[in-house]
Amino acid sequence: MNESKNYLTFALGKGRLANQTLELFEKIGITCEEMKDKNSRKLIFVNEDLKMRFFLAKGPDVPTYVEYGVADIGVVGKDTIMEEQRRAYEVLDLGFGKCRMCVCGPESAKEMLQHHEKIRVASKYPNIARDYFYNQKYQTVDIIKLNGSVELGPIVGLSDVIVDIVETGSTLRENGLAVLEEICPLSARMIVNQVSMKLQADRIRDLITRLRDANEQ
Ligand code: PRP
Repeated sequence: MNESKNYLTFALGKGRLANQTLELFEKIGITCEEMKDKNSRKLIFVNEDLKMRFFLAKGPDVPTYVEYGVADIGVVGKDTIMEEQRRAYEVLDLGFGKCRMCVCGPESAKEMLQHHEKIRVASKYPNIARDYFYNQKYQTVDIIKLNGSVELGPIVGLSDVIVDIVETGSTLRENGLAVLEEICPLSARMIVNQVSMKLQADRIRDLITRLRDANEQ
């Protein structure tokens, strides 16, 4: 029998989300001391007592690991889940990492959104942008994929607007941009591999219940 099947394997999006996830897990007695070493470059950690394994991945890769079943469970932002469109069950809103997916730009671009003009939209999230404009607003647009600092788009004249995450709004303010339309609220979510949900049903259901209870306290 495959040894790894005795373990519940978690893929966590590297960075702030992973730290907040571990804090929540600690509340329900799931710890992984090894992972707390900030200087470590290690990517995979095991808690032998709990028969759990954790690995740190780039956020957009988390749904991929979960779809292929090398991770039973993933924790990642709703933005990434929507963008990656992988097969997995989304089972829990973890309540942290709250922000919004928005269409942003200079106030002057508002008109273009109302009159369904063929505008240029820059985004790290081309699938979310396409779905919003084509399927919800029925507006034909040109989508330009960028990999970060998307706010530059309208400032340097690459695009009319952007589709991006807004948390505090300070990046927009400091660059003379504003939220023009809100697409949806975002937060960290737990996703589960579809086969694991059946094969490890009791263990996973118990985990979901305990996390939900800890979050409500
Ligand atoms: C994100 C997002 C915005 C900013 C929003 O970028 O893309 O640029 O944070 O946060 P705020 O509303 O609190 O200012 P991130 O810092 O992840 O870097 P990136 O632009 O390189 O993607």
